[in-house]
Amino acid sequence: MATSACSVALFVLIGVAGRAVSAVTDGMLPNGHFEQGPDESQLNGTRVMGRYSIPHWEIYGFVEYIGSGQKQDDMILPVPEGEQAVRLGNDATICQQLSVVRHTYYSITFGAARTCAQAERLNVSVTPESGVLPIQTVYTSSGWDAYSWAFKAKHTTVWLCIHNPGHEDHPACGPLIDAIAIKTIRPPHQVKSKQIADNMLRNGDFEDGPYIFPNTPWGVLVPPITEDEHSPLPGWLIMSGTKVVKYVDAAHHAVPHGSYAVELVAGREAALAQEVTTVPGRPYRLSFSVGDAGNGCDGHQLAVDAYAGRATLKVPYDESHGKGGHKRAELEFVADANLTRVVFHSANHHIKSDGTLCGPVVDDVSLVAVHKNAARRRLRM
Ligand SMILES: *[C@@H]1O[C@H](CO)[C@@H](O)[C@H](O)[C@H]1NC(C)=O
Ligand SMILES: *[C@@H]1O[C@H](CO)[C@@H](O)[C@H](O)[C@H]1NC(C)=O
Ligand SMILES: *[C@@H]1O[C@H](CO)[C@@H](O)[C@H](O)[C@H]1NC(C)=O
Repeated sequence: MATSACSVALFVLIGVAGRAVSAVTDGMLPNGHFEQGPDESQLNGTRVMGRYSIPHWEIYGFVEYIGSGQKQDDMILPVPEGEQAVRLGNDATICQQLSVVRHTYYSITFGAARTCAQAERLNVSVTPESGVLPIQTVYTSSGWDAYSWAFKAKHTTVWLCIHNPGHEDHPACGPLIDAIAIKTIRPPHQVKSKQIADNMLRNGDFEDGPYIFPNTPWGVLVPPITEDEHSPLPGWLIMSGTKVVKYVDAAHHAVPHGSYAVELVAGREAALAQEVTTVPGRPYRLSFSVGDAGNGCDGHQLAVDAYAGRATLKVPYDESHGKGGHKRAELEFVADANLTRVVFHSANHHIKSDGTLCGPVVDDVSLVAVHKNAARRRLRM
């Protein structure tokens, strides 16, 4: 009897360990491309009939399975070549259960294309958190944009759901969804040593951020985010009503430092922000790189407006020919509050020759306390 109790215990242990090992890994979710579709018997036209018809997913409401080249009212639906996608009708939802590590932060990246409605939105949720992402503005010439969102795992098993809260008259007006990926990100609050020369900003070089599909040349959009826990760009918030900033990689863009940077694609309509604890009356220096992403954003008036508390600095990068390059800028200021908000936005709107929005890149941002004595010594010299 003792041995069998023992082997039961061992079995349970292995079972638990096995489950821990099967937590999601960075990259595409199982059937995240929807290449595995429903059986013919599960389809009525394009409509998916069963809740479990698409492998690895559960669906609710009017969900369609769309193949490339599929037409609607003579318009070819913009499914990336050779791929499948799903379309979420009014109030439709797709969900996948994920095994995650509790208290860990994850970012979700997914491709979305709107079809006809103007004010389309998607509600992305991971129990018990959710975020409504505006998807009405199209940022690529293909019609497909990659969006990101983040969550902190409150349980070891969670449901990721994407819901179309829309109520269009035309039943076939919902957004298309394809390519859903996940990536572990660092917690937004990192404990740091308090050396005077330390960068007080978190993730100032933007090296930590959401998953970027390796085969897409247009980066990933970070929608309006007002809470740390939902920021796929740890430490940073996106202040905007409906617009985004774009997270770009060195593989497809000119990036001033490291492997990633942020392109400010929405003019003054979206700002990148972070709050830092400061000591009122103390001097600080904000330094950062401004450039162009080498993606054809040929702006004579390319410029970034930077704010640190009440101090402001406009940094033009008007030497841009859309072929890359950058320069450093510095803003010295005296803090007037316990919390100082650092903010960046593009000074102007820019549109590339293919009609898509673009703007300057910011990267390698640091905020340091300036040693008063050192500053005085420098003045006397
Ligand atoms: C398929 O859809 C059509 C049109 O919506 C409907 O009339 C028909 O009953 C459906 N067939 C099945 C098997 O549900
Ligand atoms: C988004 O979805 C979540 C989960 O279903 C829900 O709790 C939340 O109320 C929804 N938000 C909106 C604005 O519809
Ligand atoms: C800073 O915080 C301290 C204590 O937390 C408070 O007493 C003080 O009024 C604050 N100062 C400003 C300028 O907000």
